[in-house]
Amino acid sequence: FEPGFSSRDGELYCDAVPAGHIAEAVGTPAYVYSAGVVRQQYRRLDAALGGVPHRVHYSVKANSNLAILRLLQAEGAGVDIVSGGELYRAREAGFAGRDIVFSGVGKTARELDEALAEGVLFVNVESEGELVVLDEVARARGMVAPVALRVNPEVMVDSPHHYIRTGEKGHKFGIPYDDVRDAARLTRSLPNVELVGIDMHIGSQLSSFEPYADALERVSALVTQLRADDFDRIRYLDVGGGLGVVYRDEPATDVERYAEGVARAARALDVTLVLEPGRFLVAEAGLLLTKVLYRKRSGGKEYVITDAGMNDLLRPSHYEAFHEIVATRPRGHRVVADVVGPVCESGDFLARNRVVDDARPGDVLGIRTAGAYGFVMASNYNSRPRPAEVLVDGDRYAVVTERERYEDLVRQERAALDWRTA
Ligand code: LLP
Repeated sequence: FEPGFSSRDGELYCDAVPAGHIAEAVGTPAYVYSAGVVRQQYRRLDAALGGVPHRVHYSVKANSNLAILRLLQAEGAGVDIVSGGELYRAREAGFAGRDIVFSGVGKTARELDEALAEGVLFVNVESEGELVVLDEVARARGMVAPVALRVNPEVMVDSPHHYIRTGEKGHKFGIPYDDVRDAARLTRSLPNVELVGIDMHIGSQLSSFEPYADALERVSALVTQLRADDFDRIRYLDVGGGLGVVYRDEPATDVERYAEGVARAARALDVTLVLEPGRFLVAEAGLLLTKVLYRKRSGGKEYVITDAGMNDLLRPSHYEAFHEIVATRPRGHRVVADVVGPVCESGDFLARNRVVDDARPGDVLGIRTAGAYGFVMASNYNSRPRPAEVLVDGDRYAVVTERERYEDLVRQERAALDWRTA
């Protein structure tokens, strides 16, 4: 078999395991991941980068499950983290400090300190204020912190939703292009930071290379300028993440073209290339299993009501994102329906006006391409326990996150109040 999701004898499989079996054994909703697909994606990207010195740092935010992290660690990946919590996970999964880069626009002094204690490869700094704080934290540790400046290349980006465009002028991310030389000069006057790299991340779910090409050109010019300014320790070019996947009918990412483009830029600058892909590595590896609870008609509309909602998979309601929906045992007959969850919000839907299988109560559906930004964005809204996560590898599967229980919902809450006064 090919790793991933396929239909055989009228039944949906993940690798060699029937999806319906997992739904019965583990319950629904449940996220199911194909280990083979994650490996395949990683190897494809890594191989495409072939000759050029490079490091693939998986962006943990896309899917931070420890089993996924361990799997990528075994493949040789590093990680890109954006919080102390992600640092904790990376450490638990066995990543060494040098396999970690630390990104994010709002790191606290404590998080920076934790990252330095771990010996991260570099910190992607996004403001002069952050540089000053990092310098103080590093001084207290008697260290020199390795820094990459995250540049906002200020290019036009074609992400499908404006929430996930980040590299345009005026965005909160990165240092404005024209201010980067000043920020670099500031590193020189701060004894406990050293400029070792330049970083960019222009957006997510990009399906064409043009915005990368524009951004690479601008960022490369900047590196050349900085070297002329005598910053001679710059040895990393971090090009961020953003590679798109196919949810519906988007053009598939041309990995080879992308790899060739970024590799060319890195070669020209004689730097080690760093990539921070998230979605590309895990999105297509994931499926959200959900059971149909009810069917109903309202105002001439068909509704399929499922036991997964916006708290389990936020992307449809938050970004109006399209996720294909398949039945694990299709009935063959199709209907046009809204597939909606149980949450008390009109915005709680998984699909609208969609041609779907004419599923009946008890049938199990799979929401495709849910491996990235799925479980990690799940919440307890409506006091709904978060779903289970399952990893499939060939003909075996394992629960990698237990379904939350009701007790978990109130674990941090205190009924007996411990009043304090100022
Ligand atoms: N590096 C940085 C600095 C980032 O901010 C991100 C994603 C990545 C790497 C990984 O990007 P990717 O390769 O996954 O495109 N929740 C949204 C996506 C938000 C992306 C945030 N940053 C969604 O569900 O579409």
